[in-house]
Amino acid sequence: MKLLSTLATGFVAMTLILSANAVLGQEAGTLSAGVFSDTQAARGASVYSASCESCHAADLRGNSNAPSLLGMSFMFLWEGRSLEEFFVTIQKTMPSENPESLPPQSYIDVVSYILQANNFPAGPTELQAELDILRQIQITGH
Ligand code: HEC
Repeated sequence: MKLLSTLATGFVAMTLILSANAVLGQEAGTLSAGVFSDTQAARGASVYSASCESCHAADLRGNSNAPSLLGMSFMFLWEGRSLEEFFVTIQKTMPSENPESLPPQSYIDVVSYILQANNFPAGPTELQAELDILRQIQITGH
């Protein structure tokens, strides 16, 4: 019995350590942890078609009018910067003919869509349009 309860205590402690790590992992903010949800990215796809596609193209690869938002073009500009910078830049400058014209929720949804298009994984929770949270999440290579 003593052994069993020692094992049980050990197991509980281990679980606590593991879940604490999971929480810390999220706070440290890596995109690989899955910081937006699939549903959110799908909403972002609608925002994109309505407000961004006319310039950046349906496949996000851009054209002679607007830069690509994918792959190397994306990482070249954004690697090492935070989601706060990415979100605020889009909000303050896009759509270029009418910046800051969309609700914050639409901007954060379209951010999720662009991240998903760049192969960052979805997770269980939605990304919030909260600068304090976004500031802690770095855009890193994957
Ligand atoms: C009227 C055309 C137009 C529309 C609509 C538009 N963009 Fe842009 N976008 C541009 C141009 C031109 C640039 C490059 C110059 C600049 O940065 O201002 C750009 C730059 C960007 C950049 C920075 C460059 C990069 O490669 O990361 C991002 C991000 C971006 N746009 C996202 C969006 C999003 C999201 C939307 C929809 C909410 C949108 N754009 C709508 C024309 C447009």
